[in-house]
Amino acid sequence: MCGIFAYLNYNVDRERRYILQVLFNGLRRLEYRGYDSAGIAIDDSSAKCNSNSNSTPPPLVFRQEGNIESLVKSVYKEVEETEVNLEDRFGTHAGIAHTRWATHGEPAPRNSHPQTSGPGNEFLVVHNGVITNYEVLKETLLRHGYTFESETDTEVIPKLAKFVYDKANEAAGEVVTFSQVVLEVMRHLEGAYALIFKSLHYPNELIACKRGSPLLLGVKELTENKDSSSAFEDNKFLSKDGKPKELFLSSDANAVVEHTKKVLVIEDGEVVHLKDGGVSILKFENDKGEHRASLSRAFSVRRALSVLEMEVEQINKGHYEHYMQKEIHEQPESLTTTMRGRLIRRGSNISKSVLLGGLKDHLKTIRRSRRIVFIGCGTSYNAALAARPILEELSGVPVTMEIASDLLDREGPIYREDTAIFVSQSGETADTLLALQYALDNGALCVGITNTVGSAIARNTHCGVHINAGAEIGVASTKAYTSQIVVMVMLALAIGGDTISYQARREAIIDGLFDLPNKVREVLKLDQEMKDLAKQLIAEQSLLVFGRGYNYATALEGALKVKEVALMHSEGILAGEMKHGPLALVDENLPIVVVATRDACFSKQQSVIQQLHARKGRLIVMCSKGDASSVRPNENCRVIEVPQVEDCLQPVINVVPLQLLAYHLTVLRGYNVDQPRNLAKSVTTQ
Ligand code: UD1
Ligand code: BG6
Repeated sequence: MCGIFAYLNYNVDRERRYILQVLFNGLRRLEYRGYDSAGIAIDDSSAKCNSNSNSTPPPLVFRQEGNIESLVKSVYKEVEETEVNLEDRFGTHAGIAHTRWATHGEPAPRNSHPQTSGPGNEFLVVHNGVITNYEVLKETLLRHGYTFESETDTEVIPKLAKFVYDKANEAAGEVVTFSQVVLEVMRHLEGAYALIFKSLHYPNELIACKRGSPLLLGVKELTENKDSSSAFEDNKFLSKDGKPKELFLSSDANAVVEHTKKVLVIEDGEVVHLKDGGVSILKFENDKGEHRASLSRAFSVRRALSVLEMEVEQINKGHYEHYMQKEIHEQPESLTTTMRGRLIRRGSNISKSVLLGGLKDHLKTIRRSRRIVFIGCGTSYNAALAARPILEELSGVPVTMEIASDLLDREGPIYREDTAIFVSQSGETADTLLALQYALDNGALCVGITNTVGSAIARNTHCGVHINAGAEIGVASTKAYTSQIVVMVMLALAIGGDTISYQARREAIIDGLFDLPNKVREVLKLDQEMKDLAKQLIAEQSLLVFGRGYNYATALEGALKVKEVALMHSEGILAGEMKHGPLALVDENLPIVVVATRDACFSKQQSVIQQLHARKGRLIVMCSKGDASSVRPNENCRVIEVPQVEDCLQPVINVVPLQLLAYHLTVLRGYNVDQPRNLAKSVTTQ
């Protein structure tokens, strides 16, 4: 939810046109995080050679409702109508940008970021997250004569910065630094946030800080510097040697990787100051994430840069029209990467095992737990639900399911003897993170399953597994879902250990995992068939999906995909509950998908099909290859035949046709596939 980005070129000549392009491209890469409004701030021309704030003209701010392209159009239109020259060159320049997913206030220019301290744009802020105590701060600022133009929680931040700056100047008459101002502002903020500050008073400088929401710094040196170490020396990185460089701040790596792979993942409580080509970091002592740091002192820290493991190709669409389409079709490859180095099979009859590097030291504790609790939201929750039966079967430990927000609402019991497993593609979902904090406070062993190295969940869990599915940009999660299931099946194998009674079962699953990418390749051939089905369903208002056992999750996830992107009401239903309500909906018009692939529940699902047919249900049955004639109640019933795999891996296969159906329905209905209405990929507020 919301993406923030900044670009600072130091001692390298860049035209305004170029700077704008870098900022817009950064926003395009982050657009999946929110896309109802956007904005940027850049310098006015006369700021370029004048660092005396008294005569520096205020930064230019552009804000627009709608997606990034609406902002781009409006900026170029405004530039044309004014004196702003796109060919102006800046040796050093600091620009900031934002793409929004509205929480406080409707999408409108006044609610878009950068938010400002007032006329003159003395302080400008872009923000991802939520300030929970903004009303109290607003009241105080109103009493001091400040006026507010937006309904956002963010607006208090630049105004507070101006208040702090003015007070410090009045009182001491001495020069207060940009970091001092921001540290003071941060002391008063509560909530989860990542912020970038730009100020008229500190031209060509930027400050980034965060608590809770993600933020990273990318560093690109434009001259080879053989001596440059990846550590911050004396709290300064890249000493102020005057050598040209470009610095990027971003909510995630997608917007940085095309410029540089050298990054610093900014940590909670850190204030990162970019000035004169140097970077210094101050950090609050005892920073507790969500709490205010009012009583803490700040100290300097040294940090090392890391190298991004992602490739630029991952964030391009390639020959596909949409990210969702690309991500569905790349599942054979993403699953292969998920399993790489983790499955061991030596010879045809010899040992087969699983090695999860991140868990090996914790397996004993997990096996001894009284209970395993899966915690997640949306698709990640569904993936855990798909893996639950095999984890119960192989580990013998009771497994319960928790939707993160519900666990928090109930303050449900979590004990020291529990293993809590947090499943999250982004690793930054607010509810899941808060549930993690809750479980940590209650003493449970906390395990993360996430796609994002360096994310809050990856960092704050005791141990975990990265699913390594590669960047997922379509808001509707597809390849992350299947990789999450595969990781959790591997987790079940690892926790289950090597008891003789389960040996054959374990080996069959491992063989199945090895072959899974091929089977996914096979099921992807249903693409055209799913498009044809989508054409039949294009005008429907509603769709039901029935599943049970391993495929209850498939029903929920298939329905969620259709709902999210095709904007069609769709419900996943546990087939065992059919007679307890859903049957009332059945008639000859409502389309119903029944997942009836071969597993222990097959005969029960055959009976469900018969009962729905008896009520003239309009059925679409998903069955294992070769079963069409035995499941189809009559010739009018449409059948989707999928390859059969081990029962616990079948949800990976079965979800693919439903992903394809959701995709084609969306395109045919003319909706935005990658950026569905009102949704955002990572939900970093509650
Ligand atoms: C790790 C390396 C991988 C390398 C491999 C070779 C990383 C990120 N992974 O992979 O590049 O090829 O060793 O030995 O450097 N973790 C959590 N919470 C989470 C996810 C992970 O605490 O939510 C921890 C794990 O416990 C582990 C570390 O992060 O300590 C890396 O996890 P993972 O990438 O899954 O480990 P490997 O597969 O061993
Ligand atoms: C949002 C996304 O709702 O958050 C979903 O749109 C996602 O795709 C859910 O499943 C949970 O996100 P995460 O990152 O915790 O898996």
